[in-house]
Amino acid sequence: MISFLHSAAVQGINACLIDVEVDISSGLPIFSIVGLPDTAVKESRDRVVSAIKNSGFDFPTKKITVNLAPADIKKEGGLFDLPIALGIIASSGTIAAKSLNKICAIGELSLDGKIRPVKGILPIVLSLEKFGIRKIIVPEKNKYEAAVAKNIEVYPFGELQEVVKFLKNEIQKVPFSNGNIATHPEEFSTTADFADIKGQFFARRAAEVASAGGHNMIMIGPPGSGKTMIAKRIPTILPPMSFEESVETTKIWSVSGLMQAGESLVYQRPFRSPHHTTSSIALVGGGSYPKPGEVSLAHNGVLFLDELTEFKRDVLEVLRQPLEDKIVTVSRAKNTLTFPASFMLIASMNPCQCGNYGSGAKECTCNPYQVMKYRSKISGPLMDRIDIQVEVPALKIEEITSEKNTDAENSYNIKKRVVKARHIQLERFKGKNMYCNAQMGPKEIKKYCLLDDKACILLKNAIEKLGFSARAYDRILKVARTIADLAASDIISSAHIAEAIKYRSLDK
Ligand SMILES: Nc1ncnc2c1ncn2[C@@H]1O[C@H](COP(=O)(O)OP(=O)(O)OP(=O)(O)O)[C@@H](O)[C@H]1O
Ligand SMILES: [Mg+2]
Ligand SMILES: [Zn+2]
Repeated sequence: MISFLHSAAVQGINACLIDVEVDISSGLPIFSIVGLPDTAVKESRDRVVSAIKNSGFDFPTKKITVNLAPADIKKEGGLFDLPIALGIIASSGTIAAKSLNKICAIGELSLDGKIRPVKGILPIVLSLEKFGIRKIIVPEKNKYEAAVAKNIEVYPFGELQEVVKFLKNEIQKVPFSNGNIATHPEEFSTTADFADIKGQFFARRAAEVASAGGHNMIMIGPPGSGKTMIAKRIPTILPPMSFEESVETTKIWSVSGLMQAGESLVYQRPFRSPHHTTSSIALVGGGSYPKPGEVSLAHNGVLFLDELTEFKRDVLEVLRQPLEDKIVTVSRAKNTLTFPASFMLIASMNPCQCGNYGSGAKECTCNPYQVMKYRSKISGPLMDRIDIQVEVPALKIEEITSEKNTDAENSYNIKKRVVKARHIQLERFKGKNMYCNAQMGPKEIKKYCLLDDKACILLKNAIEKLGFSARAYDRILKVARTIADLAASDIISSAHIAEAIKYRSLDK
């Protein structure tokens, strides 16, 4: 007898529908799975046999053929265990084949018949709506994430036996609901705060502007001036994520297996800080089953590259494309996948090998050639893509030894301004799939970055004198837009342009 149900396979951060067909016929007892399954699907065979037996059902000693269609989709992971087991149980007559009608089942089985959580649940449930499937059976531990899709009935289960009882109508269950997940309490870190940072008012303000508009920022300065400290405090002033941003980021985290049981969405903006020994694939994504890299895991959040010059040059160069396009495209023999990668790059570096070039506090022991060679580790095109470049000088002795740090504003107050400025941007870009000024393309720059006459003249003069590239010109306009938003000004004035130009300290 043949039975039929649906499952799904993750492709990038989307999912496609997989038809699971199970045929049991008389013949030599052979259990085969066809449809280009990889080793993981083959292993699934052993798990399915044990799980069915250990859940108290007979495993048919007949010829069992499982077909996972379409065949040309590369399938991965144990998530087909549950639908295969259900298909076998239905084909052997324990449950009525029609009870599997229009049902999607996802889940890995353990040998004793328990249902284990899987990766990629959110992309799967969000895709199901498109395919006209309304019911999904998911592992208990994935239920919060699954219930994010409001038009799908989610039935979570912990054991195969329970699913069978449910399908036989022996137990009743109402679909699981998360309640209102669009609103959530805001967490506020008490461990790190901008109030901890002494001095460095220029860099603090730059961090505020960067956070308000989602701009990239690099800090250059001698050891121990507070660069890492500032970077680590940026999450404390970032605006909360909108629901749409949360869903986007969660899809990426979900396929990477980073969602914890009990979590429905990623609510905190990501802060990813890969080590400088990281590979290009780990950074931008790829592999034979293409996986998102750090740039995508940082989507809608921060990618922090501390000690930028320590990263391998070729690793840094692959950053150029996502920095410009805000997506990563991975090509495979059969298809092309794209992962979103709209992140704020925050980087730090020393000005030279010894770290003291231009610091004034200590003498630099490098010769001019060494300084040049050190700086050339970061290519011009990469630096060009960093909107805000600030020097973070060594602290003055009075600043280091001052007991009171009364001038340093705390994160709570800075964040209030950032949130206000970001709110203006959300209104500006409503319905455009854009959330902040850094995401503006040429069209939006033209439309929204309107300068008054004085600002126009100032910018023209600066380009002439300082020789900015065309890209730097666009980036100055975007940063100036954010500075104007912080001041709640529609028009960009010369003061806003002047401040934006100050943040191109390496460009001159
Ligand atoms: N502006 C500052 N205010 C208060 N403490 C500071 C400041 N700058 C540095 N410190 C102290 O020095 C330590 C090192 O600072 P941090 O790691 O941020 O330096 P850095 O600029 O990243 O240096 P490196 O270039 O060596 O990485 C901090 O943990 C803190 O104790
Ligand atoms: Mg540091
Ligand atoms: Zn030096």
